[in-house]
Amino acid sequence: MQKKPRILILYHSGAGSTKTLAEIFYEKLSSYTTEISSISTKYDYNKLNEYDFIILAYPTYHCEPSLSMKEFIMNMPKLPQEKRAFVFTTCGLYSGNSVRSFIKESFKKNLVTCASSVYKAPATDGALLLPLFAFMFKY
Ligand SMILES: Cc1cc2nc3c(=O)[nH]c(=O)nc-3n(C[C@H](O)[C@H](O)[C@H](O)COP(=O)(O)O)c2cc1C
Repeated sequence: MQKKPRILILYHSGAGSTKTLAEIFYEKLSSYTTEISSISTKYDYNKLNEYDFIILAYPTYHCEPSLSMKEFIMNMPKLPQEKRAFVFTTCGLYSGNSVRSFIKESFKKNLVTCASSVYKAPATDGALLLPLFAFMFKY
């Protein structure tokens, strides 16, 4: 019998919107062997070798990947073999170059992104300043 592919969802989330979407992915992928984890400064990068496919998720801050996610990729050693990935970001309005730059950086570490997505989420920077704009609170 063919081995089931193992999927890892790795995310960073400041206020929780990216985490919510990562958890939805986790639920939707329940027919696969899927694990979900937030990134941390003490992350054991060796674990990545246990998976066939990685989903990376982070919020866009100032049209760039969140600093935590940028540092996570910067500190990642180059994987021994190419591994396929799906990347998504959440943003309040406009993600700018966030996904493109992240895919480029992660490619240097042998993470090959096959697809990516941008999800509109509540704008954690603007919602409190401009509470009259209902769209700022919506996914
Ligand atoms: C400091 C800061 C900067 C942000 N910059 C942007 C931005 O450049 N473009 C955008 O569309 N949203 C921006 N946002 C909104 C977030 O991308 C959005 O709320 C995101 O879904 C937050 O995800 P999180 O709850 O997982 O942290 C910013 C939010 C913060 C707090």
